[in-house]
Formats: sequence, C-alpha cells, structure tokens
Amino acid sequence: MAFRNLDQADLAGKRALVRVDFNVPMANGEVSDDTRLRAALPTIARLRAGGAKVILMAHFDRPKGVRVPAMSLAPVAAPLAKLLGLKVGFVDDCIGEPVAAAVAAIAPGDVILLENLRFHAGEEQNDPDFAAALAANGDLYVNDAFSAAHRAHASTEGIAHILPAYAGEAMRRELDALEAALGNPQRPVLGIVGGSKVSTKLDLLNNLVAKLDYLAIGGGMANTFLFAQGHDIAASFAEKDLADTAREIMDKAKVQGCELLLPFDVVVSERMEAGAPWGVCVLGELSPTDRILDAGPRTVAHLMAVMDKVKTLIWNGPLGVFEIPPFDAGTTEAAAHAAALAKSGALIAVAGGGDTVAALHHAGVADDFTFVSTAGGAFLEWMEGKTLPGVAALQA
Ligand code: 3PG
Repeated sequence: MAFRNLDQADLAGKRALVRVDFNVPMANGEVSDDTRLRAALPTIARLRAGGAKVILMAHFDRPKGVRVPAMSLAPVAAPLAKLLGLKVGFVDDCIGEPVAAAVAAIAPGDVILLENLRFHAGEEQNDPDFAAALAANGDLYVNDAFSAAHRAHASTEGIAHILPAYAGEAMRRELDALEAALGNPQRPVLGIVGGSKVSTKLDLLNNLVAKLDYLAIGGGMANTFLFAQGHDIAASFAEKDLADTAREIMDKAKVQGCELLLPFDVVVSERMEAGAPWGVCVLGELSPTDRILDAGPRTVAHLMAVMDKVKTLIWNGPLGVFEIPPFDAGTTEAAAHAAALAKSGALIAVAGGGDTVAALHHAGVADDFTFVSTAGGAFLEWMEGKTLPGVAALQA
C-alpha cells in the first residue's frame, strides 16, 4: 500500500491541520510522559520549514461529546512549547470563529493547538458537518496519529476526504516499520504474543498463525494453551473455558505451517508478590498450589535460539509478570537478546502495545529495537489484520 506523504505536499503559505495523538498520561493536571509530544516534533518541524501555519488537533480522554474542563488539552500547550522552543497558542475550541481568528492571526511557521476534539459529539460520530467545520480552517490535512487511526472519527477519517490528506513523519515511519514486520517481512518471521488473556487476543492469534513461521505464546495466555494440551497448570491463572478455542488455534497453526512455541519449563510461586519464594520446574512437576508466573530459563533459551535463525520479530505482550521481579527475568532476557540482534543488524525487531513498551523500557532495551510503536489499540488491530480507517484514508 502506498500513502500520500509530505514529500508530495505544497506547504508554502498553507494552513496545515495536523491530527496528532496528545492523549498523554497526566498527573495533577500536568503531562507526566511527553513521548507522544516528542513523536509529533518531526512533522511540526517539517511543516514549519516548508512555510505552513501549523494547527494541531487532538483528543484527550473520553469526554463523550461534552465539555469536561478536566479533559482540556490546555495543559499540553506549555510542555509542547518548551520542546519546540516556540510559543504555542491555545484555542479553546476546535471549530468555528475562535479557530478562524487564531489561524488568521498567526504567521507561516507558527504553531497553535486546538481544544479537545471530543468535546463535540460530531468527532466520534464522524459527522460530515463536523468534519467540514474542522476542514474549514485548513488548506491541507496531515495525519500523524497512528495510535488513533483505528478510530473512524471526523478528525482521523472524515476530514481526509475533504482536504488533500497526507501521512505525517511519525505516521510514515510507523507504517514503514509495520509493513516491514508483517505486511511484507523478510522471512522467517517470529511473533511473540504474551499478556494474560487469550480472550482479548483471539483475532490477533488467528491472523498471526496464518502469516508467521513461528509464534511464541507467553504470559498468562500460555497457561490456557498448556491446559488445552492436557498439562497440569496447578493453581495458575487460565481461561479454561477457552480450551477448545486454543486447540482450534493450535490446529490452524499446524495446517498453516506456523510452529507454535509454548513454555516447557516455568517459573512458579504460590504468590504473585515481590519476595515470595519461587522456583523453576518443568511441566508435570508443579505442586498443587503453584502458579506459573514466567517462562522458564530453558524455554527462554530456546526462544532466543529461534530469534537467531529468523530475520524478523514482531512482539506484543510480556512473557511473565514483568512488573514483579524475579518474574520479569524471561521477558528481560529475551528482550535483551532481540535488541542485541537488532542492533547488530541481524534482526528486524518491531514491538508494540501498552504493556510491551513498558516491558522493553523496564528491560532497558527499547532504543535498540528496530521500531517500538507506542500505539495501543491501533497496534493490536493492525496485528489482527484489520484495515485501520485513518490509514486507509491516506492511501494514494
Ligand atoms: C490511545 O491512547 O490509545 C489513543 O489515543 C486512542 O484513544 P481512545 O482509545 O480513547 O480512542
């Protein structure tokens, strides 16, 4: 798939309406993690350099079409201004006269931020009138918010059919990385899917077994697969009612030639707590009160040996309870190995999804991955093989 990008845009003197994802973590009314603000900087710089007026639009939280003061984007303007080294004007609406006046008052190269799009019900409804009201203040539209592209909203989808629409720099990088990982990857490809519940990742697993050469399953969801295979998982968390579904996925993997990698040794403890006594055992040796909390060292060693022979890795979800040491060891060791291979150029390693990013930061290796997506729901839907409306609207 090809997407229109800023190389194709005529920017000089134009009003560029830019959809960014500033749905950032806040603590006590202040931005507590500016990763998503930083992600928007290359696009803003490029638009400014091209001589455009930069009008940023974003959502924050889920105010459901009403003005909720605690969900204002106003607290984002100052940290963004600091990162840019520029003044960033804030407009307390995203459509209508206040926006028109603010846009008319700024010069090419200036940046303004509009109030939360979701204060208007038309945003989430993808209402054509609301999309037109947004578009009225721009000459072109740039979408730099991959992490909101799974939403068919006025600012992510509708507006792209009204104004000339382009992928921003962060969106472009994300789409290139995802294409390299799953769209048209160098083979063999290994996927790692972890996390606690199979039920939240059924579509994803079904899509991946059809596309990958190897699929490692970790975290609590591995227990459901082990249970479905008839193993004793003692007191471990599992979705036992999904045993048939797990067996169907295993059968499908076999038919599709995807080798499933499940733990064969595990880290167990009676309690999911730091400092609780723990041990390593192979399947078949669990005590009745044991809970599986991480992949065992031999399982992790095998996974790393598979990493050595594949060309591409796509990773979503931790292998164990990485928030509580020592149950982070499997995830940390496997992540460090993948990062070293990626750094040496031997592996294309792409990771994404909320917990995954936190796990890679915890392991201290996120920077060495080829690409780490900060998108949550959008990354999962893309891994499920779904068309993201905000991406489809940018197709050339
Ligand atoms: C996110 O934080 O994942 C995106 O900003 C999407 O937010 P939403 O789930 O409220 O649409």
